[in-house]
Amino acid sequence: MIVAITGTPGTGKSSACAVLSVRGYAVMDLDEIARREGFIAGRDEARGSDEVDTEAMRRSLHVPAKVAFLTSHYSHRMDVNIAIVLRCRPSVLRSRLEARGWPPEKVRENVEAEAIDVILQEAVGRLPFVYEIDTTTLTAEQTANAVLGILQGKAEGHAPGSVDWSEEVLSWY
Ligand SMILES: Nc1ncnc2c1ncn2[C@@H]1O[C@H](COP(=O)(O)OP(=O)(O)OP(=O)(O)O)[C@@H](O)[C@H]1O
Ligand SMILES: [Mg+2]
Repeated sequence: MIVAITGTPGTGKSSACAVLSVRGYAVMDLDEIARREGFIAGRDEARGSDEVDTEAMRRSLHVPAKVAFLTSHYSHRMDVNIAIVLRCRPSVLRSRLEARGWPPEKVRENVEAEAIDVILQEAVGRLPFVYEIDTTTLTAEQTANAVLGILQGKAEGHAPGSVDWSEEVLSWY
């Protein structure tokens, strides 16, 4: 069972996966693999981020465990059994990304992507099993527990569409 832990930057993927790793689960950080194995296809200077060739990574990725969590905002593009999309209320995500010192345009782009469900839609478009977790008020421990709960069949309240930021988005206008 290969599980993608995906979601907009700042939704808490690395934090939740650190908890899963401490509990003994295999976690593969795809950003680290991209750097180590040369899947960086270029550099987007305007965005201040690396461009990863996710298709090349998908073709060559070897997962050395029967149960593993793949983490990155493109992990749902790998050959996974399930994707779990971490979500965060856009106003809270904005604060988290600003706290990283990211430039305003980069913060805005990611907050908007979260607001309109970009990653969720991409995951649903290519995978049969997709769930989402609203991490806004959760600790990393609680998020990790929710992930494991979903894998144990406690998926109620985590179906695609269960997280809805439209009310907050409408308040922007
Ligand atoms: N449950 C949480 N509650 C409050 N803050 C959190 C929570 N989880 C993570 N954070 C904070 O939010 C920020 C982003 O978390 P994290 O680095 O885990 O996100 P990420 O999804 O891995 O982002 P990226 O895609 O950029 O790697 C960090 O500053 C972290 O301390
Ligand atoms: Mg991370």
